[in-house]
Amino acid sequence: LTADKYPNIKRGDFGKINDEDINHFSKILSPNQLITDSNDITGYNQDWMKKYIGQSKLVLKPKTTEQVSEILKYCNQRKLAVVPQGGNTGLVGGSVPVFDEIVISLASMNNIRSFDQSSGILKVDAGVILENADNYLSENGYIFPLDLGAKGSCFVGGNVATNAGGLRLLRYGSLHGSVLGLEVVLADGTIYNSMHSLRKDNTGYDLKQLFIGSEGSLGIITGVSILCPARPKSVNVAFLGLENYEQVTKCFQKAKSELGEILSAFEFMDKDSQLLAAQTLKTTHPLCQDDIEGIESVPEYPFYVLLETSGSNKEHDDIKLEKFLEDVMESEIVVDGTVSQDEQQLKTLWTWREGIAEASQQFGGVYKYDVSLPLDSMYKLVESVKERLNELELSSTEDNKKPVYEAVGYGHIGDGNLHLNVAVREYNKEVEKALEPFVYEFIESHKGSISAEHGLGFQKKNYIKYSKSETEINMMKDLKKHYDPNGILNPYKYI
Ligand code: FAD
Ligand code: MLT
Ligand code: ZN
Repeated sequence: LTADKYPNIKRGDFGKINDEDINHFSKILSPNQLITDSNDITGYNQDWMKKYIGQSKLVLKPKTTEQVSEILKYCNQRKLAVVPQGGNTGLVGGSVPVFDEIVISLASMNNIRSFDQSSGILKVDAGVILENADNYLSENGYIFPLDLGAKGSCFVGGNVATNAGGLRLLRYGSLHGSVLGLEVVLADGTIYNSMHSLRKDNTGYDLKQLFIGSEGSLGIITGVSILCPARPKSVNVAFLGLENYEQVTKCFQKAKSELGEILSAFEFMDKDSQLLAAQTLKTTHPLCQDDIEGIESVPEYPFYVLLETSGSNKEHDDIKLEKFLEDVMESEIVVDGTVSQDEQQLKTLWTWREGIAEASQQFGGVYKYDVSLPLDSMYKLVESVKERLNELELSSTEDNKKPVYEAVGYGHIGDGNLHLNVAVREYNKEVEKALEPFVYEFIESHKGSISAEHGLGFQKKNYIKYSKSETEINMMKDLKKHYDPNGILNPYKYI
């Protein structure tokens, strides 16, 4: 069997769900934890970008780790394929089925298990929404060491499964460092539990690391223990205009040396990304002096930087930031800028960065490339792609409009991570062929990574060789075979 949507992919040799299976699951779960109605399943079959669509006929919503274990044990015996699903905000097609895999949604496992006020160690179920975890921590004077635009929908378990990077990795580091322990159900139902509160533990292999970033290919994460830092008392955001990309990199060097320990985010955006954002935000651009809104309000600067400082002493942070801004303006690294005066303004400034993801897919779809590249050559990728798309004679859509709306670049420059988005009016094979493997070849030739933070999922499964050696790929395949010999966990993806 091949799906209409994916004519080149064959369904694996998995069992097909029958009445007996449904009966069995009904014994493990209560009726409202089991969804079979096709209308109710639609949302679980489709990803955030509306690019990947599966054909699952069954969604299971366990409430306990034991239920997840019972489900997987049975699926493994019956060779029924499954897709673990969190908030379904992933951007590489990993969270939705390809064929008729059973969706195992963690949405009903959403309890905060414990919080230790003195150590800052939080233990949660995998289905806790990131923003809820952060709000809870805020009440206790702490902050979640990860923040991203999808915080209102994504789950902590999904964040760990994708090893999400986000907006403050620069300050708090990767989840590989802050996650202290995990509870994971393996393919055969075995429960692996390392939900401890130890910062240091050198007794053997650090097994939890295997599951951080494994995108549901090795087990289902049900619990997360994570070390959270104290919530900064003073936060400032500056939004800057720059004349070229070289100044962006110079500005970053200066920010590191002059702001040092209080620098908590350094994000860049090109002008086209701001024009896209303006079309959904419909507000006045932060660097516009006039009383106008939308795209007219976006100034002519080719690049913008959003820089955040977080510290414990407002007076100290203000002085440092002021001095830094004076220096970069005097040396003409930065030509324009504004600084948030209150919490509301701070949030507004962030919307012009966080809003780009949503804005990029407003015209019908988006091809997304999330790459690590050396800072100096980073923006060359966007320029090369723009050039290539301009040169190509792409056929027009029905209403005679070119399928590509715009290619934009932005991202976590402080982490060497660029997001290249090609906003399209509809998903189009011609455009895809122009982009792939071109983008991946560019990245390989510059010794970058084809996935900085979004993962491999369905989109990049066949492109892993551009970033990993044959030996590395074989080691990954060995792990997969060992922990999931029947291949039931998230098939057709990852490797
Ligand atoms: P899902 O999308 O449901 O799943 C993602 C993958 O993890 C799938 O392969 C799924 O099978 C697997 N999975 C989910 N839960 C589990 C589990 N409990 N156990 C095992 N496997 C599981 N990412 C970044 O890194 N940085 C960003 O700045 C960022 N910003 C974003 C902004 C927006 C607006 C959006 C829509 C997405 C953004 N993302 C970003 C993508 C990012 O990967 C996710 O938002 C998030 O980490 C995924 O969590 P989720 O709960 O939605 O997982
Ligand atoms: C971001 O940094 O905004 C996210 O990773 C989402 C995206 O790539 O659009
Ligand atoms: Zn990102």
